Amino acid sequence: MRIIQISDTHLSRGKPHFADNWPPLAAWIAAQNPDLVIHTGDVTVDGADVEDDLRYAAELMRSLGVRFRAVPGNHDVGDAGHPRQPVTDERLARWRTYFGPDRWIEDIEGVRLIGLDAMLLGSENREEATQAAWLDAVMEGAGGREIAWFLHRPLFLDSPDEPDGYWSVKPEPRARLSELVRQHSVALVASGHLHKAYQTVCDGTRYLWCPASSFLVGPETQPAMAGERWLGAVRYEVNGAALEPSIVDVPGLETYWLDDVIDEVYPPSPANSPAPG
Ligand SMILES: [Fe+2]
Ligand SMILES: [Fe+2]
Repeated sequence: MRIIQISDTHLSRGKPHFADNWPPLAAWIAAQNPDLVIHTGDVTVDGADVEDDLRYAAELMRSLGVRFRAVPGNHDVGDAGHPRQPVTDERLARWRTYFGPDRWIEDIEGVRLIGLDAMLLGSENREEATQAAWLDAVMEGAGGREIAWFLHRPLFLDSPDEPDGYWSVKPEPRARLSELVRQHSVALVASGHLHKAYQTVCDGTRYLWCPASSFLVGPETQPAMAGERWLGAVRYEVNGAALEPSIVDVPGLETYWLDDVIDEVYPPSPANSPAPG
């Protein structure tokens, strides 16, 4: 079995700045002949406010002709505590209309894949507690399968003790999730959002940052952190109860820099910064 993870496609009919990277990505996915595609969010440029971005991106994902699962990113459903685009029931409902559930499980061979809505973490939306209870249940019910998580935002950049920031999960929900990772020996935590490629193993768990396929974020906009700035995807081969990831190049992707077009794509506003990932 083969799974492809893609992330941060930032698609929009109205803002086609990164649209040229979709055809080579779609062609590459077809050539990989995967059994499942997982999108780890920021599917859209601004699905949080523009419903057509969700509609359009869902059409493109369906045009792949491969079964897929997706979890939302901050640009798809808003973000926990964001002053202008908070996660709301309405935004979550719109996501579900076009992409289905924002949390899900897939059992493939000896592996349980768990998709999580990272935008709820720290939001105090009532769905946050519902998701937490659901997560406990699906972890308990994994029946000895290896467990892999997929979510938009990484749990942490450098260390589970780092302070609050735009680029990783907030400290309080992070602590609860880290405890679950430890208790259940989670094998993999795979994320997007950073538009960087990276993997490391920490206390027996692999943390993998799937690169974007849309654009990179320059050092003026994104602080120094681990990982490499290149566009691509992740291929997983499933062998029994083992998930073997490779972060790979996708031929034909053009390197766009958000910094060059940020005023058009994500116009700055006081409540909007930092905007990009
Ligand atoms: Fe993001
Ligand atoms: Fe992104």
